[in-house]
Amino acid sequence: MSTYAERFLPPRYQSGDASGRANSDRDKLVKMAKEHADPIELNSGDPDLTASPAAVEACIEALREGKTHYAMQGLPQLKAAIAAKLEKQNGFKVDAASQIIITNGSAECATAVFQTILEPGDEVLTTDPAYTGHAGAISAARGTPVFVPTSGDALWEPDPHEVAKRITTRTKAFIFANPGNPTGAVYRRETLQALLDLAHKYNLLMIPDELFERFTYDGTKHTSMASLPGAEDHVITINGFSKSYCMTGWRIGYAVSPKWLAKTLYQVRYALSMCAGTPNQWGAVAALSDASKDYYDGVYRTYGERRQLFFDQFDEMGLTQRPAPGGFVGTLDVRATKRSAMEVAETFIRDAGIAIWPATVFGRCGEGFMRISLIVDTNRIRELGRRLRPVVAKLLA
Ligand SMILES: Cc1ncc(COP(=O)(O)O)c(C=O)c1O
Repeated sequence: MSTYAERFLPPRYQSGDASGRANSDRDKLVKMAKEHADPIELNSGDPDLTASPAAVEACIEALREGKTHYAMQGLPQLKAAIAAKLEKQNGFKVDAASQIIITNGSAECATAVFQTILEPGDEVLTTDPAYTGHAGAISAARGTPVFVPTSGDALWEPDPHEVAKRITTRTKAFIFANPGNPTGAVYRRETLQALLDLAHKYNLLMIPDELFERFTYDGTKHTSMASLPGAEDHVITINGFSKSYCMTGWRIGYAVSPKWLAKTLYQVRYALSMCAGTPNQWGAVAALSDASKDYYDGVYRTYGERRQLFFDQFDEMGLTQRPAPGGFVGTLDVRATKRSAMEVAETFIRDAGIAIWPATVFGRCGEGFMRISLIVDTNRIRELGRRLRPVVAKLLA
């Protein structure tokens, strides 16, 4: 007798998680963390810091003043503020009214884009390791994610030759997070240009997800692929307020679309959720304003200090690090322990109460690395160092 699941769920959902994430490892580690009296958890991608006071005030004011109606096409004031930011900080110009599509978090951008451009069986390239939501959005649109291997030794930047090797007649696009989650990769301009050249050669779309754009360190600067020559018709930029502006629960994201695609993308986004919350969009306007500048500069410094302290501690323990330049999230190289990342993760939680995912949770190429999310303050990072020192010493012995 067939079960309801067999009757109603398409095969791509019957085998569990369509994103291909290693759920059993995650579940095991979550359970172990729950059993510890005082775990230090570096797993969630949700910044512990919150939105700027100006953003909060603007949202409350919008609620009080009844600015609570549908903002069907996205709040014009928010689209104008984003367009000004794109021009000033990201180096490209767009028509705010037609090319910026405000969504419920950037997650909805990926969903809307793939629902729009994919036919069943179409392929979309992404990285390994990758933010698993991208593969989930591809599968939900009946597409097939194809993974391009990346390596910690190359600071997780994809090699355009490896991308080219995986292009088939079914390939429609390449989606990648730059700066990277889980990796902290920050793509160099020449890499972005080489990827864009592939888009022209094979007539593909490039979909950079720039949600972490403010978090780049070690003297690097984030480059938006859309600012490169030839990007106009081949690049859809995904971005939002969740990470760079510490506004995860506000659910405000945006896609910057080529002109030829924008109208259809609007239709699909409308079918998904009509529009994003209006008071939250007013908050986002304030997050982009000068009134929030000092606050977000402080956020940047805070995550930078944590990053420095975190990696310095491991260097001192003899587990030498050469982290990718992204921040707030990134990877810890544990290859010197000669154990699998999952074994190290289990040891960290069991012997020190430190919960960090193995990067294999985000793809096979994460082997030998853990994925960190610096969502605890410097006191807790020092405490993490104290607890892990003897554990790491034993692993390296
Ligand atoms: C790279 C990346 N893109 C997109 C998202 C989705 O974020 P949101 O929908 O909150 O904008 C996340 C969330 O963790 C992410 O890490």
